[in-house]
Amino acid sequence: MAVEVKMPQLGLTMEEGTISKWIKNEGDTVKVGDILLEITTDKLTSEVASEAEGTLIKIVAKEGEDVPVRGILGYIGQAGEVVGGAAPAAAPVPTAAPAPKKDGKTTVAVIGGGPGGYVAAIRAAQLGGEVTLIEKNKMGGTCLNVGCIPTKVLLHSAEALAEAKEMAELGINVEVKGVDWNKVQAKKSAVTNQLVSGVTGLMKANKIKVIEGVASFASKDTLTVTKKDGSKENLTFDKIIIAAGSVPAVPPIPGVKENANCVDSTGALSFETVPKSLLVIGGGVIGIELATAYSRFGTEVTVVEAMSKLLPMMDGELTAQLRKMMEARGIKIMTDAKVQSVEAAGDATKVNVEVSGKIEAFTAEKVLVAVGRRTDTEALNMDAVGIAHDRGRISVNDKMETNVANVYAIGDCLGKVMLAHVASAQGEIAAENALGEDVLYDGATNPSCVYTDPEFAGVGLTEEKAKEMGIDFQVGKFPLMANGKSLIMNGGVGMIKFIIGKEYKEVLGVHILGPRATDLIGECALAIGMEATVEDIFATIHAHPTVTEAVREAALAAEKRAIHIPNK
Ligand code: FAD
Ligand code: NAI
Repeated sequence: MAVEVKMPQLGLTMEEGTISKWIKNEGDTVKVGDILLEITTDKLTSEVASEAEGTLIKIVAKEGEDVPVRGILGYIGQAGEVVGGAAPAAAPVPTAAPAPKKDGKTTVAVIGGGPGGYVAAIRAAQLGGEVTLIEKNKMGGTCLNVGCIPTKVLLHSAEALAEAKEMAELGINVEVKGVDWNKVQAKKSAVTNQLVSGVTGLMKANKIKVIEGVASFASKDTLTVTKKDGSKENLTFDKIIIAAGSVPAVPPIPGVKENANCVDSTGALSFETVPKSLLVIGGGVIGIELATAYSRFGTEVTVVEAMSKLLPMMDGELTAQLRKMMEARGIKIMTDAKVQSVEAAGDATKVNVEVSGKIEAFTAEKVLVAVGRRTDTEALNMDAVGIAHDRGRISVNDKMETNVANVYAIGDCLGKVMLAHVASAQGEIAAENALGEDVLYDGATNPSCVYTDPEFAGVGLTEEKAKEMGIDFQVGKFPLMANGKSLIMNGGVGMIKFIIGKEYKEVLGVHILGPRATDLIGECALAIGMEATVEDIFATIHAHPTVTEAVREAALAAEKRAIHIPNK
């Protein structure tokens, strides 16, 4: 039986390759490991080796042809064996029908003014759409008002406090008098308001009509907008982009709903005073960021996580390091621990936690419930028009199209990756497709960032995921203790870790725990997007003294040629 020679996938984002040269000819005898042909992608030229022994009985993809990943290039079998079939063409991407025009313009509605919706609206306007954005609450959505931005303001103040306390070590003598919580809150509001008014200004600058109200589907192309005064208006559009976002999930833990000391992330961003003690239910991103901030402000923090590790989507080795650092700072962390119930205890709250089969009671002034978020799609009336969804999580294809023609959905309301930059990236894709372009969303370069101290960021595959996928990979690690800038900035705490493919040396994943990790990850996302190999990272000169040098060193370490650490 003939064996197929297929187009290999040389990087996470590779979709096709070009046959640059066949080294072997039809009829040649080949052994395992013999180079059959050379292929090129946008970035790489690679050799394809034979995985079988026999005769190259047929070449089906000729020199110069583009072939999709896993497409058939040829066959190896017994001399004289007959095989058929040409290389399958790349799956045709359906071309979007030209958008219908009214007065020369496509009318586009965007439901929701978060980082998904407002970006989609701007992109649609740039492409000539007549855009209306409907927002039921505040422009900027979760991200600007009760998410990314306000958390980072609190974290920044908390970090400044920590730094001020450690200044004597740098030779600076300052007296830290404590935290003026009202000023911290005022700073948070000022930054948020400035950004919200910036987005409002962008709407005006792009001639986007903003309507305050709740949108719901009256038909497949008509939205009913219910305004604050209760009046309703029906508006018809050529294209509709749903960017309705998400809200905190409330777990069915007895006592949580009834207890006023139990708050979600929105409540925890606006405590009236810094709580003396805080129990955090959920060791995910929100739980860990707010635990970091409040512990710096002087709150006694306990984190209860149901799973065996914190931050389940992040690299396990670096997460374990982060946990140790948080514990060393006095944060109590329990994993494999389940909150059974919550009850009042005077002004405070008693939280009953099951750990190793036993119930332990913890008392805290406040309880932050951060166990994930659910989509905010109930008001949309999606079932009436048949928009496919799974318990409120809207289903879309890579063009961000729902199953209903001309209706798109993006961001948190898909219930998958709930990140502002993902919502924005999907917003641009949806708007472009709505205005007649033909583009696909690809999440391969999406970084995950956790704003801890030090920061934690990752892109691409974790070591765990690469193992699970059966990929042959090698790891390069560089401790930041050996990086001058990190040593200056935070005493050299942290590490950078590269995951690269063994055969082609392509960058599969990068994980950083250290100062400015969330900025450094941009270079690594670009590397994955460009299908870079470690050679590309080596060949790039990184400035000294910077933490970026350590990115290069970690890549070098993957090939046992790091300069500033011994290579094992
Ligand atoms: P949203 O921002 O939720 O916006 C949806 C908008 O739609 C809302 O304004 C809502 O009022 C409106 N809406 C909903 N239904 C209707 C309707 N029927 N009619 C009219 N309007 C409607 N992500 C990061 O990438 N980095 C971070 O650091 C980060 N930090 C976070 C911290 C916290 C505490 C939280 C809660 C989230 C954080 N996120 C972070 C996640 C990020 O905020 C979300 O992923 C992002 O806001 C999603 O954007 P979106 O546009 O899809 O939805
Ligand atoms: P999450 O999904 O990140 O974490 C929730 C955690 O709670 C999980 O680890 C889960 O195992 C745990 N959990 C669930 N039920 C539990 C229970 N009963 N007891 C104990 N633990 C329980 O969700 P989170 O932290 O609420 O954040 C929501 C989303 O907001 C994130 O997924 C992320 O997409 C976004 N976000 C992003 C940030 C960033 O990018 N820096 C910052 C904050 C939020």
